[in-house]
Amino acid sequence: MRIAMAGTGYVGLVTAVCLAHHGHEVTCVDIDENKIQTMRAGISPIYEEGLEELMAESAERLTYTTDYRSAYQNKDVIFIGVGTPEKKDGSANLDFIYAVCKQIAESVNQDTLVVVKSTVPIGTNDDVEKYLQDNVQGDYKISVASNPEFLSQGTAVRDTLHGERIVIGAETEEDKNTMLKVYENFGIPMLTMNRRSAEMVKYASNDFLALKISYINEIANLCESLHANIEDVTRGMGMDSRIGNKFLNAGIGYGGSCFPKDTKALHWLSVINDVELKTVKAAIEVNERQKIRLYEKARKMGFDFKGKKVAVLGLTFKPNTDDLRDAPSLDNIPLFLDNGANIYAYDPVGMKNFQRKYPTEINYCDTPEECLQDADICFIFTEWPQIKALPMEAFQTMKTTLVLDGRNCYCPKKMKDAGILYYSIGR
Ligand code: UDX
Repeated sequence: MRIAMAGTGYVGLVTAVCLAHHGHEVTCVDIDENKIQTMRAGISPIYEEGLEELMAESAERLTYTTDYRSAYQNKDVIFIGVGTPEKKDGSANLDFIYAVCKQIAESVNQDTLVVVKSTVPIGTNDDVEKYLQDNVQGDYKISVASNPEFLSQGTAVRDTLHGERIVIGAETEEDKNTMLKVYENFGIPMLTMNRRSAEMVKYASNDFLALKISYINEIANLCESLHANIEDVTRGMGMDSRIGNKFLNAGIGYGGSCFPKDTKALHWLSVINDVELKTVKAAIEVNERQKIRLYEKARKMGFDFKGKKVAVLGLTFKPNTDDLRDAPSLDNIPLFLDNGANIYAYDPVGMKNFQRKYPTEINYCDTPEECLQDADICFIFTEWPQIKALPMEAFQTMKTTLVLDGRNCYCPKKMKDAGILYYSIGR
């Protein structure tokens, strides 16, 4: 099929490349000329395992352009995969969606199915369809289907090619059938439903996972006070198949481009519909607090940051991504700076992006060992394999061997035996 993809971020580019992998002709559209040039050169603008290889393998079926007019012409399906960032009040900002819709309405020259892949509030697909039908130039039939995205950053290609389900929200049999055809070669179970239900599946799934994390983080905090071990507790819980053992890792809270934004957006939607989701509200509040839990712990211990060398290991919101969005490091580092700390940070891939936000305030180190040498305190915010593999000796080079680990990277007993004062989450 001839497909266009509006937006080449994590969702748009990965989906486009996977569609091309399965034989579709895909035109990727973005407003960023630099990004387009990069992709034309076969380079992925995002760090995602396996993506460049797949771009190369499907190169003959992939085109990259900023010229939306020609891109949206002669297409069977146009996907929208642009961002829906958070507004100040927590609601989703749909400006990018409507900017693309305007271009689509101006450009199409045949009947076209527009597929919203971006995460959008329930009811948005209805509004988008009305907008497109009201504004299309010419006598063309435009309809809209919802096709939410469940990929995780770092495993985006695998999640797209081998996902557990494809959710399709469509209002007509014809649109459902078009979508079934788009994905027929993927070999993944497909679920069809109405558009509003599909939109809700996305929010309800993400918010459920966020809730699971906040719940386990609260249990972990209580474990600390009651001298129970969260890892044993989750092992015991996870073997109950009704609970499952995934997303039960306690830590310093969830970040990333989805959970923080989607919990706030659904909560906002629930409030304006007068059916407040109290569980989601609690998940948000717990997460905000959890992110600075280790900072608060250090303060309670009487640690004075002024003039001290603070080693920060891990900046990204999780390993295997260069994404910093809502990463706990971004909540903590300003607090350390405000308190007069000298920060030495290490992250295997996130430093370049961090440097854009903090070009001079932080000392960036090539190795974790360099950060730790003579440090007064160490905070761990991301469980990168390089950080998890550090030998005890690396911490023994600190001036004061005080380690606060937000990702439970090391065995507490081994750290204690090595003479390191070690605090983790729920153990
Ligand atoms: C998430 C969803 O998993 C994905 O389905 C959706 O499409 C987008 O949002 P992503 O944000 O890439 O994906 O990352 P994910 O692996 O889910 O982790 C999100 C955050 O939760 C990270 O900060 C991670 O550290 C944290 N997390 C995850 C935990 O604290 N504990 C866990 O057990 C799992």
